[in-house]
Amino acid sequence: MGKKGIQFILGFVLAFGLGYLIYQGMGSEVAEVVEPQVTEPAPVSATTEPAATTAETEVLVQKGCLACHAVSGLGLDGGVTGPDLSQAYMNVADKHGVPLDEFLKAPTSAVMSSVLGSNPLTDEERQALIEALQKASGH
Ligand code: HEC
Repeated sequence: MGKKGIQFILGFVLAFGLGYLIYQGMGSEVAEVVEPQVTEPAPVSATTEPAATTAETEVLVQKGCLACHAVSGLGLDGGVTGPDLSQAYMNVADKHGVPLDEFLKAPTSAVMSSVLGSNPLTDEERQALIEALQKASGH
C-alpha cells in the first residue's frame, strides 16, 4: 500500500474518531438532561414467571393452554400433550381445515373441542391468543 493509502486511512480514522468523540460528548449532555426525569424503576419481573410473559401471552397462561402446549416462539415452556403452538398461526388451516380464528371458536380437533367446550374463550381472549400466536410465528 502506498503512502497515499496510509494517509487516507489515517485521515479516515481521525475523522471518524473525532466524530465519535463529539457524538459521545453530545450523548452525555443529553443523558444528563434526560436522566432526572426517569424516576420510575424498570419493572422487575417475578422470578416464577416465564421470561416472555407479557399481557399478550398471559392469556395462554390464564386459560391453561400451557398445560398441554409449549410456545417456543415466545419462549414459553409447556406440556407436551399437544403440539408446540409456535407455528399454529400458519399451519392450523392446513392441519385442521379451518383458520386459527375458526378453530378457536369451534375446534375441529376432538381434544381441543372438549378443552374449549368446557371452557370457552371470550372474543377478547381469542383475539389475544391469535395475536400471541401470530407473534410466536414471526408473521
Ligand atoms: C388437555 C390438553 C390441552 C389443553 C389444555 C389445550 N390444548 Fe390445544 N391441543 C391439544 C392437543 C392434544 C392438540 C392436538 C389435537 C389434534 O391434532 O387433533 C391441540 C391442538 C391445538 C391447536 C392446533 C395446533 C396444531 O398444530 O395442531 C391449537 C391452535 C390449540 N390446540 C390451541 C390451544 C389453546 C389456545 C389452548 C388454551 C385455550 C389449548 N390449546 C389448550 C391439547 C390441549
